[in-house]
Amino acid sequence: MRFAAIADIHGNCLALEAVLADILAAGIAYDHIVNLGDCFSGPLEAGRCGDLLLSLELVTVRGNHDRYLIEQNRSAMHESDAEAYDQLSPRHLTWLKTLPITAVWRDTAFLCHATPGKDDLYWLESVSQEGLVHLKPQAEIEALAKGVEQELILCAHSHLPRAVRLADGRLIVNPGSVGCPAYDDDVPLYHKVETGTPMASYALVEKQEDQWTVTFRLVPYHHLDMARLAAGRGRKDWASGLATGWLS
Ligand SMILES: [Fe+2]
Repeated sequence: MRFAAIADIHGNCLALEAVLADILAAGIAYDHIVNLGDCFSGPLEAGRCGDLLLSLELVTVRGNHDRYLIEQNRSAMHESDAEAYDQLSPRHLTWLKTLPITAVWRDTAFLCHATPGKDDLYWLESVSQEGLVHLKPQAEIEALAKGVEQELILCAHSHLPRAVRLADGRLIVNPGSVGCPAYDDDVPLYHKVETGTPMASYALVEKQEDQWTVTFRLVPYHHLDMARLAAGRGRKDWASGLATGWLS
């Protein structure tokens, strides 16, 4: 069995299109792609992204930013969520409301945006008091996997491509972010996530002789076009992240 995991598109439709082309070129069809959420939030092309995602009908779980778009009033939204909200039509928002928090794909892989119980908690990373993001202690990662029966677990949220094998052999994979390679956040305390590359990230997973393997893919696309779009909308932070993978 072989399929693709994408996540954290964040309204970057150009990056999504490049990733989809790469997946199709690898011989994987749309019904073998799972989407781990955070589809729209950001200053880019949320509306166009919504049209594309609704047409694809990928198995999709809801991210924390997807939830904010359907839970919060426009006036209470963070700037990035509000910018996406203004581009979304009622049918996009209705689609977000239908998305599950977790899912199991083909009786094989457990899907969630962040962790099974919380959509805004990094599964594989901790944030130090100094705001540095690092691999979480193994015991804490294992504790969050309690109750998950599937041997392959897919999560997202930190935008950092990473795989962790648990003591019992289960594999947790974060495919990284399709559309947002760098950001900062105040939760749980101020920190930056910077991948250091502007390329779009996703993962191919495959079961070979009873073992799940993972191939992380970094896909180039016309990222400077998206950086210019963000800059034109007054988002220097996004413009820097999209141009370089670093927040300047
Ligand atoms: Fe995200």
